[in-house]
Amino acid sequence: MSHIKVVVNGALGRMGQQVVSAVVADPGLQLVGASDIKADGDYIRVPGQAKKIPLHNSLTTLIEMYHPDVVVDFTVPGAAMSSAMLALKNGANLVIGTTGLTDVDLAEIDKVALKYNRGAVVAANFAIGAVILMHLANIAAKYLDNVEIIELHHDKKMDAPSGTALATARGMLEARGKPFIFPATEKETLTGTRGGQVEGIAIHSVRLPGLVASQEVIFGALGQTLSIRHDTVSRESFMPGVILAVKEVVKRHGLVVGLDTLLNLGD
Ligand SMILES: NC(=O)c1ccc[n+]([C@@H]2O[C@H](COP(=O)([O-])OP(=O)(O)OC[C@H]3O[C@@H](n4cnc5c(N)ncnc54)[C@H](O)[C@@H]3O)[C@@H](O)[C@H]2O)c1
Repeated sequence: MSHIKVVVNGALGRMGQQVVSAVVADPGLQLVGASDIKADGDYIRVPGQAKKIPLHNSLTTLIEMYHPDVVVDFTVPGAAMSSAMLALKNGANLVIGTTGLTDVDLAEIDKVALKYNRGAVVAANFAIGAVILMHLANIAAKYLDNVEIIELHHDKKMDAPSGTALATARGMLEARGKPFIFPATEKETLTGTRGGQVEGIAIHSVRLPGLVASQEVIFGALGQTLSIRHDTVSRESFMPGVILAVKEVVKRHGLVVGLDTLLNLGD
């Protein structure tokens, strides 16, 4: 069986470095290149590996030289959209973990992927436990009328709330088919204390050094609460999901949003 050739975009970032190591460690995959806007050498070395991987600050150059089957992107939203268009139009499939893409961005990725007969997976969270949390939250959302989300991340995270928190909220709203009840606070003495709101769901973002990524979804009802919590203690947690997406995306056409579809999590 031939290897799936992979290029990682954003390879020098926190997630990119993990993806580089995970791709190299998988016998079914071949890392053919790594790109990052901050690249200042010709190669990167992977810990524990003798082989040097070509590094470039231009994804275009790497795609032209190595014709990857899959481009994996963990960068920033603007860069992710450019790399998406570049990859799809040049015959590569696409896995995007970068958060902050809009619905318009997703529609564009789907349109271009279909036009060029390629697959794309965009997932706000590749940690399988977090995806199962969302699945369980969707079930509870049908039966419980009040819910709030607390998401906790490291202090370097650029966006708030997290893409996962928004995806969790949207998933619960879709499953429920109507807004949640948001109890009005008569006097908010400190603006923002009740969090941001999506159709009755308050979202609270905590940013602290020492954290990686956690999320707690707390439902409330008469005389009871239900808490569902997931903690990512290391970025390795995302890698089985990323590797699954790389192996699945080459079999798909058009866009798949979220890991749940690839895990066959039914309703
Ligand atoms: N989907 C998930 O499971 C998941 C998990 C964690 C983080 N994320 C998301 O992944 C993204 C990256 O997170 P991070 O913590 O690795 O960030 P980071 O800042 O550590 O890394 C981003 C990297 O992208 C590079 N970059 C920026 N613009 C670029 C461009 N135009 N071309 C090429 N490279 C470019 C930067 O130089 C940097 O090395 C964020 O959007 C974050 O929210 C997703």
